[in-house]
Amino acid sequence: MNITVIGTGYVGLVTGACLAELGNKVFCLDVDRNKIEILNSGGVPIYEPGLKEIIARNRASGRLIFSTDVAASVAHGEVQFIAVGTPPDEDGSADLQYVVAAARNIGRHMERNCIVVDKSTVPVGTGEKVKAAIRAELEARGRGELDAMIVSNPEFLKEGAAVEDFMRPDRIVIGVEEGAAGAEAREVMRELYAPLNRNHERILYMDVKSAEFTKYAANAMLATRISFMNELANLADRLGVDIEHVRKGIGSDPRIGFSFLYAGTGYGGSCFPKDVQALARTASEHGQELEILGSVESVNDKQKQVLLKKIVARLGEDLSGKTFAVWGLAFKPNTDDMRAAPSRVIVRELLQRGAKVQVYDPVAMEEARHAFALDLADLPGKEADLHYAGGAMEALEGADAVVIVTEWKSFKSPDFAAVKAALKEPLVFDGRNLFEPVTMARLGVEYHAIGRPSKRPK
Ligand code: UDX
Repeated sequence: MNITVIGTGYVGLVTGACLAELGNKVFCLDVDRNKIEILNSGGVPIYEPGLKEIIARNRASGRLIFSTDVAASVAHGEVQFIAVGTPPDEDGSADLQYVVAAARNIGRHMERNCIVVDKSTVPVGTGEKVKAAIRAELEARGRGELDAMIVSNPEFLKEGAAVEDFMRPDRIVIGVEEGAAGAEAREVMRELYAPLNRNHERILYMDVKSAEFTKYAANAMLATRISFMNELANLADRLGVDIEHVRKGIGSDPRIGFSFLYAGTGYGGSCFPKDVQALARTASEHGQELEILGSVESVNDKQKQVLLKKIVARLGEDLSGKTFAVWGLAFKPNTDDMRAAPSRVIVRELLQRGAKVQVYDPVAMEEARHAFALDLADLPGKEADLHYAGGAMEALEGADAVVIVTEWKSFKSPDFAAVKAALKEPLVFDGRNLFEPVTMARLGVEYHAIGRPSKRPK
């Protein structure tokens, strides 16, 4: 099929590359010339396992084309994916200006009936707005005989596993309009996703609004689980209970399940924080308060401070003269994404309390430099106390403690003798529960984790 993908951000790039890999001819369109230039010279602006190879292969075969040419790109697609950003407005609601601009471009340049698929995370009712924007442009051009069929096809991919999630989805949600147009769109989408729908039916057909809502409901549910586990972990700390035992004890109930039950330093990233806010906003616009979501958000904000509280409880309010190593900066492993990363709160607070900080992340160092430059703009001079280490062990040199913020695999089995030798004191604050408290005690490491009683070293 001939496909156009508007927007080469996270979702657009993965969608375009993977659809080309499935044999379609894909035009990826972006207004950002710089980004398109990078892609056309073999670069990939984001770090995502497997993506670079797929892009290279499909560019070489001519199935994947990156362009800033709106008219040519829109004219190409029988199916047009809108995969542009929906950043939060000041009031937390999703800003639809890029979605509407993409819809207008489709209306301005389409030359035959096509299907317009919304892949961006958009509030309920956006499908209708997209349809109206396209229709207005068609009427203005005197091409009112043309029509765009609207589909909502939210994306559930996780950063760091995006290619795998796209290629092996657990479900494909397709929302279509009523009537003949909807039936036709449904048929085209079925054909497009047929290669991913083998063995058992993964496509869930529904109406456009329900599909739009499903995406928010999924992210809100997952964020709720995380905040609830974080609250339980904090109580476990007070009670001397081990949250890791509790996690296994409840996860083995199939009604609960094991995933997304990990207590930590709070969720970050580009989706959960913004989608939780946007859904709460949608609810209040419709006269209903989603009370649980308000708590999910405030619990998460507090959880980003949980390691700091432990550090202050152990070392005192004033951290001047102390040096901390921070392992892991990205909001989660296998990505260089620093958006809403808990490390940003932790590093800033440590610096504000007078400490020196030595940070290391296997992939996100460059993104981290940009993020910290922004975060520290109002704290003149503090950037001088922040050192970007060349490796995990280098970050430990002369530090009073190590603070683990992201659970990169490479942090999971360090040489503890070397860790102890590098640190001034064998003191570990672990925001991701990577180690067993008893093992740490045996190794002579003072270990503070989340919701796990710390054992004094022998
Ligand atoms: C999420 C959704 O999972 C995905 O379906 C949607 O399309 C986009 O948003 P992503 O933001 O890439 O994906 O990351 P995810 O792996 O879901 O993690 C989100 C955050 O929750 C991370 O900060 C992670 O550290 C945190 N988390 C996750 C926990 O703290 N505990 C857990 O048990 C799971």
